[in-house]
Amino acid sequence: MTEAIPLSLYVHLPWCVRKCPYCDFHSLPGGDRVLPEKAYVRSLLDDLASMADVLAGRPLQSVFFGGGTPSLFSATAIGDILAGAARIGAFAPDCEISLEANPGTAEAGRFRGFRDAGVNRLSLGVQSLQDRHLARLGRIHTALDAQRAVELAAGTGFRSFNIDLMYGLPEQTVDEARADMAWVLGAGAAHVSLYELTIEPNTAFAQAPPPLPADPVRAAIEACVQDMAASAGFRRYEISAYAQDGFRCRHNLNYWRFGDYIGIGSGAHGKVSGATGVWRETRTRDVRAYLRDPHHQRTRHRVDGDELWWEFLLNGLRLTEGFCLADFHAVTGLSKTGLVERLQPAAREGLIDLSGDRIRATARGLCFLDSILAPLMPDTFATN
Ligand SMILES: C[S@@+](CC[C@H](N)C(=O)[O-])C[C@H]1O[C@@H](n2cnc3c(N)ncnc32)[C@H](O)[C@@H]1O
Ligand code: SF4
Repeated sequence: MTEAIPLSLYVHLPWCVRKCPYCDFHSLPGGDRVLPEKAYVRSLLDDLASMADVLAGRPLQSVFFGGGTPSLFSATAIGDILAGAARIGAFAPDCEISLEANPGTAEAGRFRGFRDAGVNRLSLGVQSLQDRHLARLGRIHTALDAQRAVELAAGTGFRSFNIDLMYGLPEQTVDEARADMAWVLGAGAAHVSLYELTIEPNTAFAQAPPPLPADPVRAAIEACVQDMAASAGFRRYEISAYAQDGFRCRHNLNYWRFGDYIGIGSGAHGKVSGATGVWRETRTRDVRAYLRDPHHQRTRHRVDGDELWWEFLLNGLRLTEGFCLADFHAVTGLSKTGLVERLQPAAREGLIDLSGDRIRATARGLCFLDSILAPLMPDTFATN
């Protein structure tokens, strides 16, 4: 049974040059000065070796180097991690191997090295193509750096690459967002991730909030970026993810479809299914402790009952394809009719489509996913 659930590997590399004021990801500044690369690679492989039982008989469908800024690591280090992983487990023949790169760290030799190490999909954090916005976002690169990095990625021969673009930026106009999109859509990427700037708690922006566009401008920007992506042949398949046919991100799809993934590295999360159910794992966020002992304060938590139900929904409703009722029942063991009943109020408001054998958020529902989910949170309903 478990063998049939796709398995992915997430590798967290938590260093950046400096911290962006909007970012709440687990990342440490100063990675350009202090990067204990060799020691960290050793810890990662020690960490992965402890998951050999999960890897047994289950070739990895995808690997994702996320951060932080993985492109601060040398190609040798990335190659060592992949070679070490291949000794512990196996890679599916068409395994997707992605790496997040910051345009401020882009060099031709480095990109070629990543490609030669086995990376076949690069994800570039462009964020904006206007210097005033990049400066406001605390980015370490200019618009020209971003354009050069994209051109470099396009010329390096990765199977495909993604561009992350943010919108709804402080004082952004619709024309500025349109200009960003026009450039991004013509840059040769097969995938774009379009993120509306959110002010996350515990960030510098939360302490001193920047002036965001007024609601009507924000809505007009959102409509503009979504329409432009669709007209250029990028199909929206998740709230923020758009791809040309055949180029959806296999790794992220596996999360949203409730597949399994091993997460290694300081602060990484994983989810694995086994004979005893579904388990979530976390690794310590204390990087020094992780370097000393990657097993330090590792937690393992069984996901069942309401939590399982909730997590399945939280992921499946992000996808425009939604999820299949039969899969919901197979994973959670809970009743299909119980789920349909709970979702009826959102369906009556036109936020959820319950008409077929799949359940999906409507286009309007995708805009209001939080309000669909809020009344359904686990402590507000009894187990089926
Ligand atoms: C973990 S970051 C990795 C990329 C890389 N570190 C970089 O910034 O170039 C993944 C993406 O999440 C998006 N992101 C991070 N924080 C965000 C926020 N508060 N609001 C909207 N998007 C955000 C950015 O587009 C970013 O590229
Ligand atoms: S470079 Fe990326 S991960 Fe690092 S602080 Fe900025 S947004 Fe966060």
